[in-house]
Amino acid sequence: MARKKFVCGNWKMHRTAAEARALVRELRAAAEPLADRVDVAVAPPFTALFAVAAELAGSRIGLSAQNLHWESQGAFTGEVSAPMLVDAGCRYVLCGHSERRQFFGDTDEAVQKKTRAALAAGLHPVVCVGETLPERESGRTLEVVGRQVRAALSGLTPAQVGSLTVAYEPVWAIGTGKTATSAQAQEVHAAIRAILRELAQGVADSVRILYGGSVKPDNAAELLSQPDVDGALVGGASLKAADFTGIIQGAIR
Ligand code: PGA
Repeated sequence: MARKKFVCGNWKMHRTAAEARALVRELRAAAEPLADRVDVAVAPPFTALFAVAAELAGSRIGLSAQNLHWESQGAFTGEVSAPMLVDAGCRYVLCGHSERRQFFGDTDEAVQKKTRAALAAGLHPVVCVGETLPERESGRTLEVVGRQVRAALSGLTPAQVGSLTVAYEPVWAIGTGKTATSAQAQEVHAAIRAILRELAQGVADSVRILYGGSVKPDNAAELLSQPDVDGALVGGASLKAADFTGIIQGAIR
């Protein structure tokens, strides 16, 4: 089954609202014409969501948040809920990015709750999974990634699985300049696809599995040529309109 490629930029803790607007203006000028052949989204920090949504009015480029809380409202100081993200104009939200898991204590259980809350609000979750270097070196990659995928997706209906995206991001490749080889990525993506078939047979072939971890214009086309690599989750290179556009072009070739 042909899956439309999806390239999502994760801006992490970068850009004020004004800086974010400027970056999106540049990106629209460069990438808007490509956005009917590839799904494109950007994930600015919470404080820039409204500003970026305004800048994206009438655009095919979608808006994503980087995180959410699983309750829709309440006494949870510092948190932001799925309905609030919808209100800000988001279509997507990252769930369980490795930096959330590593630095902010997001557990498999929390990622599952976030994924469910996102779906309940009508958002498309981008569920992030990936092994650390010691896990890879001890031969546990597929076990770790398998556990993360099963936990995040447990209890979801096939229709719900069909409206999410999985992002495989080896932790050792994030922000390090090291990428998985296309063969390493394909191996893990195929294993994730096999789990999706078990969990949601009818939709598994339509779910997109993105690769993330030091994706750049010069390695995107090779990574994205793999049969189960359906796009990219891009950190550093998404902060430069030209580089991000180069990666989107790599998804088309
Ligand atoms: P990177 O980040 O492209 O800077 O490695 C990827 C990510 O964390 O999503």
